[in-house]
Amino acid sequence: MKWLTSRYVFPLAVITLIISLCLQCAWIRQLYLAQKQDVKSKLESIVSNASKQIVYRSVSRGRERSSRFKQFFLSSEWFSLRQAFDELTLDNLHSQFHYGIDNDSTVVEMRMSFLNDPKKHFKISSSSKTDNMSPRQVSSDDQRDLKSLDSLVNRQLQQFGLRIHRDYALYDYSSGKLIKTVPFTKSSISFISERYTYNLKFLHRYQLVVDNIFWTVVFQMRYYLISSFMMLVLTAAAFYLLIRLMKNQQLYAQARMSFTSNMTHELQTPISTIAVALESISKYHLIDEPEKLKNYINISRHELQRLQSMIEKVLKQEQMDLGKTKLQFSLFDVQPLLQQVIYAMDIQVQEKNAELLLLQSDEPVFIKGDAMHISNVCYNLIDNALKYSPPHAKIEVSCSIADHELTISFKDNGPGINEIYQQQVFERFFRIFNQDNIHNVKGSGLGLHYVKQVVELHGGRVALQSKIGKGCNFMVILPLYEEN
Ligand SMILES: Nc1ncnc2c1ncn2[C@@H]1O[C@H](COP(=O)(O)OP(=O)(O)OP(=O)(O)O)[C@@H](O)[C@H]1O
Ligand SMILES: [Mg+2]
Repeated sequence: MKWLTSRYVFPLAVITLIISLCLQCAWIRQLYLAQKQDVKSKLESIVSNASKQIVYRSVSRGRERSSRFKQFFLSSEWFSLRQAFDELTLDNLHSQFHYGIDNDSTVVEMRMSFLNDPKKHFKISSSSKTDNMSPRQVSSDDQRDLKSLDSLVNRQLQQFGLRIHRDYALYDYSSGKLIKTVPFTKSSISFISERYTYNLKFLHRYQLVVDNIFWTVVFQMRYYLISSFMMLVLTAAAFYLLIRLMKNQQLYAQARMSFTSNMTHELQTPISTIAVALESISKYHLIDEPEKLKNYINISRHELQRLQSMIEKVLKQEQMDLGKTKLQFSLFDVQPLLQQVIYAMDIQVQEKNAELLLLQSDEPVFIKGDAMHISNVCYNLIDNALKYSPPHAKIEVSCSIADHELTISFKDNGPGINEIYQQQVFERFFRIFNQDNIHNVKGSGLGLHYVKQVVELHGGRVALQSKIGKGCNFMVILPLYEEN
């Protein structure tokens, strides 16, 4: 898939994320509307059920054992009939309700009459007759039933886990006039139930009014919301990781390609030099000129050594990457080791007219590690400082101790490393090519990777402080050996 380059992957991922975000939003909106409807139906059924229960309780008081009462007053047919009777408000309709109990039977009488001539009117619109009770008694019974209805509604709301802000409105039964209003503003009201009677006294009708139910619905949808949020986050994370992996792979492939061309060039130079030297020996019969012959042999030997050290470096790195390198741990003082490395690099330092300083600490600095690999680490870092800094560079190597750790710092005043490359320089084969002044410096891009691996195998870490044009400060931080 040649066309699927990383150029298209990022916008494709962004578009996919945006589309899935829009789809999720549309889905959540649909779900919200459905859940809102569901909450409203639940509220309606809570009030109608409570009304049915309270009417039953109000008429069955003292006759709780009667199964016929229960059968009749809790039946859905009776409830519908009663509700229809309450709701029927035709112009000029005279409805009359009578409820009474004598010794043998309970009488429930509903009567509706209307005048055939629309111009004529009844004197009264509706009336209800109950047992022979004083108006005061009727009113106090009504108050009691109203309270019971409201507390039953409350209990059922709690049972369903509906935590809402609610109140009730009360209407006069016959005139339908509002006699108790709610403290909510009209715009914030989310639900108004039907009006329900709650006894057979027919004084008032009850209506549940609920303030904003947005958060109640959101709470009901919490699992859907969490799962769709998780899905979005996981998709974004998967895309992010994939793009990062692709970028790394690309970088690695580029670095590997430049490593191959670099190494080929590096290996070819000594091979061509040796080939030319050998050809010259046979072509010009240098066997008869021992001085020249000796010179050519020396050049060939030097080139062969270079070839061997390059091959060794690649092999050593291969072994380390495969985890086959075994470290020989011993206790040693780091400062004499640094002195040895600096002494061994004296020729390179002089060639570059550089100044290499070791700032020693007064006390010995012991660590437990592989002295050979640690000196290679130091060699690599000083070699880089010399290689990438211009002539007359000033390089400072110093040791410091803090928090049970030893920091060996390699500071130069060379070109520095751009912040965007400061992590990548420790990756295998990575080299910076665009900096003009190091364009011609040879290398395989393995040195810093080796440094990082060795330091980490010693339980330490590497750090780099650098700014473009201000030099580099590579720090090797190792655990200090301490006697218990
Ligand atoms: N002291 C430094 N100053 C500026 N750039 C540096 C310095 N040290 C390292 N670099 C940059 O980091 C890159 C990686 O360094 P590293 O030592 O891993 O590879 P190399 O020097 O190119 O090859 P090798 O060390 O394997 O011969 C270098 O190509 C160089 O661009
Ligand atoms: Mg290097």
